[in-house]
Amino acid sequence: MTTGTTSFQRDILPLFTQTDIDHMAQQGVTLNDYSYMSDPTHAAGVHQQVSQGLMPPPDSGENRWSSDMVALFQAWIDGGYQP
Ligand code: HEM
Repeated sequence: MTTGTTSFQRDILPLFTQTDIDHMAQQGVTLNDYSYMSDPTHAAGVHQQVSQGLMPPPDSGENRWSSDMVALFQAWIDGGYQP
């Protein structure tokens, strides 16, 4: 991946399952909403949760994000939250 070209629609949205999107919408965290996610505070919160393996919750049955997935999310942040 190249910093600056990571795209929310193309690269980041596919990292979230429909389960992730549905459960987190109930918490007010709209993972599939670019305008929500491109707020640096929201993006940092998501990054913190996935990098620590706290989200998706271990008991949800989903796998924790791989280091490649976390790095891709970080590249999107570093690239300036491209749509
Ligand atoms: C990649 C997937 C997910 C991401 C990025 C994510 C992200 C987050 C974030 C940023 C918070 C806010 C924490 C805070 O306010 O301190 C949160 C809380 C929460 N999430 Fe998720 N979430 C994911 C998947 C899920 C799934 C699959 C479930 C349920 C099956 C879930 C259930 C919850 C619940 C119940 C809370 C509030 C209570 C808590 O902090 O534990 N999340 N999540």
